[in-house]
Order: sequence, then C-alpha cells, then structure tokens
Amino acid sequence: LVIVLDFGGQYNQLVARRVRECNVYCEIYSYKIDIEKIKEMNPKGIVLTGGPNSCYEEDSPSYSKELFELGIPVLGLCYGAQLMMHVLGGKVEPAEVREYGKTDVLIDKTESKIFENVSTPTVCWMSHFDYISRVASGFEVTAHTADCSVAAAENEADKLYAIQFHPEVLHTVEGKTMINNFVKNVCGCAGAWKMDAFAEETIKTIREKIGGGKVLCALSGGVDSSVAAVLLSKAIGSQLTCVFVDHGLLRKNEGDEVENVFGLDGPYDLNFIRVNAQERFYEKLAGVMEPEKKRKIIGEEFIRVFEEEAQKIGAVDFLVQGTIYPDVVESGLGGESAVIKSHHNVGGLPDYVDFKEIIEPLRDLFKDEVRKVGLELGIPEQLVFRQPFPGPGLGIRIIGEVTAEKVKIVQDADAIYREEMDAAGMNRTVGQYFAALTNMRSVGVMGDERTYDYAIALRAVNTIDFMTAESAEVPWEVLQKVTSRIVNEVEHVNRVMYDLTGKPPGTIEFE
Ligand code: XMP
Repeated sequence: LVIVLDFGGQYNQLVARRVRECNVYCEIYSYKIDIEKIKEMNPKGIVLTGGPNSCYEEDSPSYSKELFELGIPVLGLCYGAQLMMHVLGGKVEPAEVREYGKTDVLIDKTESKIFENVSTPTVCWMSHFDYISRVASGFEVTAHTADCSVAAAENEADKLYAIQFHPEVLHTVEGKTMINNFVKNVCGCAGAWKMDAFAEETIKTIREKIGGGKVLCALSGGVDSSVAAVLLSKAIGSQLTCVFVDHGLLRKNEGDEVENVFGLDGPYDLNFIRVNAQERFYEKLAGVMEPEKKRKIIGEEFIRVFEEEAQKIGAVDFLVQGTIYPDVVESGLGGESAVIKSHHNVGGLPDYVDFKEIIEPLRDLFKDEVRKVGLELGIPEQLVFRQPFPGPGLGIRIIGEVTAEKVKIVQDADAIYREEMDAAGMNRTVGQYFAALTNMRSVGVMGDERTYDYAIALRAVNTIDFMTAESAEVPWEVLQKVTSRIVNEVEHVNRVMYDLTGKPPGTIEFE
C-alpha cells in the first residue's frame, strides 16, 4: 500500500491513478489524517500532493515533522515538496518568476533513484508561484530549470524526495517513469496488484459476507451498476434481484440492450425485473418547462418506481450501490471521516426499501479500473465503454417540455451521431458527445415544400474530470455527414447546429 496525502491539489486523484498504473495499490487520505492511523496502515510509501496554498502562511495545510521520521519513503509534489522543505527547516518564498506549463528540467543527479531512465533535459509540467529557495539540511538539489534553482531535491539516506513539478500529469513526458521509480526503486513495492485478482477476490469476499442473504440492485445499464451487478451475480447468483427502471428517457434501443444482457436470455444468473414506466414519466413531465423542476420530477419518480418494485420483493438483506472511488473521495476526501456519497442513478437513496446494509463492491476503483474489471468479467464492450449518460437521461437533453414525440426525435438523431462517430473511429477519442433537441423551430425548405421544424444541437467535448471541458474538434466531414443524415432521416428536424461552447461558461448537458 502507498498512501497519497491530499493537500487540496487539483491532480490528487491523478497521483493515485499513476501509482495504481504501476500495479501498486494506493489510497487517498486527507492531510488531516492522524499519524497513528498512518502508522497502523504501515504503507510502503507516502506521496504528498500539490495544493493551492503557500506553506509559510499560518493556516495553510501542514503535517507534523514526525511524518518524515517514520522511516517510510516520502515523495512531495509541488506544494508537498515545499511543505517538506518548510517543515524540515528549508526555506520557501514567493517566486520572482512563476512557472506555468511545459518546462525543460535539467537533471543534476542522473544517478538519483527517482531519475533512473529519465533523460535530461526532460519536459515537465510546472505550476507554482512559490519556490524552494533553500533546501533543508541533509538534502541535495537533484534538478533545476532556467528559472527555478530547485526543481527536485532529495535526502537519499532518509528516503525523502521533493519534486517541484507535476510528474502525475501527462504533460510531464517522463512522469510515469519517475513515479514508477519512486514506488519500485525507493519504496520497494513489487507491483503485483492487478485487476483480475480484484474480481476474483471481490467475488469471494462478497460470497462470504452475504451467505444466504437476499440482495437488491438498481441497475441503470451504466458501466458502474452493470459491473457491480455482474460481480454480485457471479458471487451469489439468483439471490440477487436487479431492478431496471426504463423511464422512457434512455437512448435509442438502450432498454432492450440492457435487457438482452441481464434478462432471462442473457448469460448471467440473477433475477431481472424491467419496469416499463415510460408513460408514467411522460405524464409527470407534461407541461413542465423548468430544468430543475424536470430533474426533480424524474429523480423522485425514479425512486418511487424503484420503491414500489422493492416492496413487491419484500425485505432484503443488502442493497447494492455502484459507488466508485472518485465518489468516495469527492464526498469527504477519503480518510478518517469519509462521508459516503449516496451514489445513485437519478434521485437519491430510496427511503422505503427494507434493507439492512449497503454493499459497494467498486468503492476502491477508478472508472478505468471499473472498465477493466468489466472486460475481465466478459461484459459486452458497448456496455463497458458506454458514454457517460446522466441519470435524468434525455430529459435534460430536450430543452423545455418533454413529450414522447420529442424523445423519439432526439433518440433518432443521437443514434445517427453515435453511429457516425463510431464509423469515424472517434467514439473513444472524444470525452462525451451527444445530440440534444433545442426548443427552437425555424423555417426550411425540403423538396419544394416550406418546413417549420426543430433544430438539433450536436455537442462533443473533451474533459479530464467533467468539471471543466472544451468543445472537441470533430472533423468537418463527419459533422456534414451526421447533419445530412439527421435532416434526411429524422422527421421534424430541418436544421443541425454544432455547439462550440466550453464549460465554463456552458455546462456539458443543456439543462
Ligand atoms: P454538466 O452538464 O453538469 O455535466 O456539465 C457534467 C457531467 O455530469 C453528467 N451529469 C449527470 N450525471 N446525473 C448523473 O448521473 C445527473 O443528474 C447529471 N447531470 C449531468 C453529464 O452527462 C456530464 O458527464
């Protein structure tokens, strides 16, 4: 185990992912974690992340000197590096020249364990306004840049390493090598943690925990709940019941696709209940224009439908949630008092389901790791690599009132868009893309007829964390083909537009 102490940096999760990519298990904790807890866990290494503060200011996040005296290797990154120096008696000051972006780093100590197989100069990602003006005693400077005399420093005897740049981001070309060097050369981790072992062990643990108990799962067809359901099914077979609510706001054919995989004719041993609640949702949404109100209605109705099904089943012992690691971290920074975000597909946690305990088989995994487990388990690729899809579904991709007719229009347009992106090989290179139905109608001409029909908006964005995004460059030919197919094949559409807005100021979805 390697632990990452989070000091509020924007790349904290990336650090943990990079460590795991070295096949070393890693968890993130808040910098507030008690030293005794760290001692109990006895990690093989500790990584301190970056953060937005200045370590010499009074209320800045800090850690006691004892952390560096445990004999456990520590790697400080950016703020973490500055903090290490500050706490151990070095000096950190505001930099005259702030460095931001790709920077050439010159390595002074090429035989450093951290820089094994790293070239010099090497391109690294810098982002700092403070700098280490004097290293703490026992440290030697191991790298510098034109503007920064201490780009890296180390105290080899005490296994303390400070790096001013960000090896965890991909712009640091040899960053992966550096992190791999830290966990293998310095911490001595074997790198034996793998996904196939995860699936096998999890199935075994679940089986032991559940015994003869009954388990209920709300299946959305998204990758997280699908992988969770398959793990459970492999562990306990028909003791598991999955309820899949088709709210009529899914993408084209999606309900049938989910049923084909999880239903009676699918390969898995479980009880599958599909609730066709389309009409019920359309009725509730009739005449409602306001986005937040729509979201609320969809969320609440979803819970009600799920509860009704659960009541038919009666008391169960466990409720399965597809919570994944970013949900856990975002909800409480992991650590001593990790508040579990009640992960859900649409609204919230059901109030009236009679269960004793929640089980979350994926709560230690990142999304890409969940996908790997999904593939290991033999879940179809189209499900494993499914586009992120919001709980309220097409309800927030139809601006204004939702009707069955509008759902059909946006489903058909979106299916064409996805087909053509697939054909162009872009389905996995763009972060998220979809069609939305604007509430705008305009005049057009088709054949010799005047038309007055809807406009479809196409959106494609690239994003790292879905908090910010930029519009993706989809080739003109692809957009033209999609446009021509949509206006020709989808009734009631006579115009197609491409949304170039980033987030901020836009959001990814339209409502
Ligand atoms: P926005 O529109 O907020 O979307 O920029 C960011 C990401 O979150 C997804 N999204 C949702 N996912 N329930 C979900 O499960 C929701 O209510 C919801 N709203 C937005 C959206 O698809 C994008 O990936």
